Amino acid sequence: MTDFKQQVAEALKEKTEGLELNEITGMIEIPPNSEMGDFAFPCFKLAKTMRKAPNLIAEGIAGELSEAETFEKVENKGGYVNFFLNKKAVVQSTLEEVMDKGAKYGGSSVGAGKKVIVEYSSPNIAKPFHIGHIRSTVIGNAIYKIYDFLGYETIRINHLGDYGTQFGKMIVAYRKWGNKEEVENEPIKTLLGLYVKFHEEAEAHPELEDEAREVFKKLEDGEAEEVELWKWFREESLKEFSRVYDMLGITFDSYAGESFYSDKMDRITDMMAEKGLLQKSDGAEIVDLSEYGMSPALIRKKDGSTLYITRDIAAAVYRKEHYNFDKNIYVVAAQQNLHFQQWFKIIELMGFDWADQCVHINFGLVSLDDGTMSTRKGKVVFLEDVLNRAVEKTAEIIKEKNSGCEDIDKVAKQVGIGAVVFQELSNNRIKDYTFSWDKVLNFEGETGPYVQYTHARACSVLRNAKVNIDTNVDYSYITGESAYELTKLILRFPQVVQDSADKYEPSVAARHIIDVAQAFNKFYHDEHIIVENEEEQKAKLLLVDAARQTLLNGLSLLGMEAPERM
Ligand code: ARG
Repeated sequence: MTDFKQQVAEALKEKTEGLELNEITGMIEIPPNSEMGDFAFPCFKLAKTMRKAPNLIAEGIAGELSEAETFEKVENKGGYVNFFLNKKAVVQSTLEEVMDKGAKYGGSSVGAGKKVIVEYSSPNIAKPFHIGHIRSTVIGNAIYKIYDFLGYETIRINHLGDYGTQFGKMIVAYRKWGNKEEVENEPIKTLLGLYVKFHEEAEAHPELEDEAREVFKKLEDGEAEEVELWKWFREESLKEFSRVYDMLGITFDSYAGESFYSDKMDRITDMMAEKGLLQKSDGAEIVDLSEYGMSPALIRKKDGSTLYITRDIAAAVYRKEHYNFDKNIYVVAAQQNLHFQQWFKIIELMGFDWADQCVHINFGLVSLDDGTMSTRKGKVVFLEDVLNRAVEKTAEIIKEKNSGCEDIDKVAKQVGIGAVVFQELSNNRIKDYTFSWDKVLNFEGETGPYVQYTHARACSVLRNAKVNIDTNVDYSYITGESAYELTKLILRFPQVVQDSADKYEPSVAARHIIDVAQAFNKFYHDEHIIVENEEEQKAKLLLVDAARQTLLNGLSLLGMEAPERM
């Protein structure tokens, strides 16, 4: 595909002094609207070296380049040189590329030979998979897909919270107030109830906490009865989690959770001791991080049991040894920022030069429109309920529309779940947000269903036209304003995918496919696609097909399905 930006940069290189080609490329901007051309080059930085006012420099460059055949025209405005590309060349190059790459359009092979671990979801056993977990699950899945699309070898890990003192609490609560049948009927809800009860009771009877600690110690020591209960909680929980993952179409390469590292802890603490990092404090062992402006990290408790952070350190070392990653990504809420800063520092202090290959990709909080969520108080929206409700609502909407959709159940699933997924991904991940049914199920505006609907519309245009699409067309039929705007957004898609990866920000891709969908709908509205002139129709259908392909690739990158009829 022609690199138009590079063309512009090379032309500029000839006409400027003191700037390297890559500097020029970095300075080239995409103007806010098409009246200012396809690319703009600011001349302010040149004023010094060229000893001239920016607007005069711009005028000079534009004057000389306006003769060049490569560009339709070159203008200057307020210290900028504005480049207007040859529209036909842009459209042809873009559409040929999309047709050539198909489902791979937007991807690349920059990641070939590099290994990336993406750890995400990581819910806690015996606790609900609630709406708060959806962020890690959905954002992590999109990040995995984006890296995969860029040619990286990816490993998806679900670092299950299947270990820790809370299992002491759960076991104590179950023995005191639980019964087997209830757990079997409704495992997570029952276990959650027990957990809540434990915290209520422990306020009046703090000795319960000691009891829980002892039970957890027994679990760590491998006592049969405790281990058996724990295993059972884990199995029942996994069944519930799997239901949600199935609905979302998400799979993992590894479910090595916290418990997986329970026998790998001594080696880690020995390593830390060897480096002189461990200090005694009230019988416990800590790493003092005051020098780095952080509170101390508790590595081993008085009773010898290890902690969440110890298991994270052990997990990172294991992953480096086992996978030899180039990058190890953790998609975990911003509430755990300090935790990750602490242990990344510890890894560095242990002398591991790969510490900087570990990245914490954080995200903001989800709250309910009627207050915050807290597992301890039992106030929680179950993700499975959210998904089911979204599917039901979608089915109702499709029925109302009466669009002739044949497989309502299937489409309602694809669209309802897509709605929830897309709303997660279209926001900048670090922003806190409030979960509201109205927003999730609003099918108008900048939502997943809107993008899916646009994709289905493109499919339907192509289906009804019943012609074979190829790139042997007269491109001058698709250089009109809305066709050209749509093409430019399609052209930018590969760069958008790369940007999403660099920033670990699926919202960049999500926002872009909204733009593509809007531009497609504008084109559809402005132009007659099915026309008598066969040549014209063929060219327009090619653009429709390229838009369809871009929307499809974008949706699947985000982990969404794209029904052909809605
Ligand atoms: N299980 C934890 C939670 O639900 C998240 C685990 C994050 N991953 C990690 N490696 N610490 O809060």
